[in-house]
Amino acid sequence: MKSFSTLAAFSISALSFIPSVLAHGRLKSITIDGKTFEGPQINNSGKIDSAIRTITDVSPVLDINSDNMSCGQGAAKVTAPLSADAKPGSQIDFDWASGEPSVPWPHNVGPMMTYIAQCSGDCADFNSLDAKWIKIDEAGREGNQPEGDWIQATTLHVSKPYSMKLPNDLPAGNYLMRHEVIALHNAQSEGLAEFYPSCVQLTVSGGSSKANFPSSTVDFPGAYSATDPGILINARVIEFLKNVYL
Ligand SMILES: *[C@@H]1O[C@H](CO)[C@@H](O)[C@H](O)[C@H]1NC(C)=O
Ligand SMILES: *[C@@H]1O[C@H](CO)[C@@H](O)[C@H](O)[C@H]1NC(C)=O
Repeated sequence: MKSFSTLAAFSISALSFIPSVLAHGRLKSITIDGKTFEGPQINNSGKIDSAIRTITDVSPVLDINSDNMSCGQGAAKVTAPLSADAKPGSQIDFDWASGEPSVPWPHNVGPMMTYIAQCSGDCADFNSLDAKWIKIDEAGREGNQPEGDWIQATTLHVSKPYSMKLPNDLPAGNYLMRHEVIALHNAQSEGLAEFYPSCVQLTVSGGSSKANFPSSTVDFPGAYSATDPGILINARVIEFLKNVYL
């Protein structure tokens, strides 16, 4: 039988796993079928025209019911001047950077999700709080295996973009795409899962006119709750046990 002191020592060593939370980050650029679109810096300090909506802070959204869950910190009612061209089935590479030049994305525990919503009209006039989202991609662990490394550890954290494809049956039209990184290293406490949503305006051409956009959609905020399994989760201890026992 394990003594209490062994358990205490275990939890202390598990807690010593805390990765750096300095710098956090932003979606630096996306590449669609080989063509790169730079994202704005915080508050668009570089004053570039982008298809990626500007955020005001590199820190995460922690309030799961906040408007900031739609497109990131300070971005709920912000739009971007451009839209990036894409096609059904296009490959999209998401390149995230930390807030500090030359430091890669700091987090390595947690998944990435991508959602898409139809803009009514031009995305440059579309409020993300009106968006009706469907999920088009999710990535948790490599190979979708419990012993696989977290996708953030094998891509963004080692300065490698995350790649996915748009659905082959996406109808032509204007879309807001919401790509989201969730960092779970502190998620054992309610309210400390870190959400990093980022929105990209897309113009999709070449889609089948017969295709329909699904009618079962979710809202942000609204799609998640603070106690959902996978959002309230002791991911660091699971990672520790995995490293010790698998
Ligand atoms: C960005 O803008 C927000 C709100 O206008 C401000 O609070 C914040 O300090 C700015 N951040 C930077 C890094 O300039
Ligand atoms: C949304 O983000 C901005 C910028 O970080 C912050 O000032 C504001 O308080 C946030 N809103 C909510 C409802 O959390």
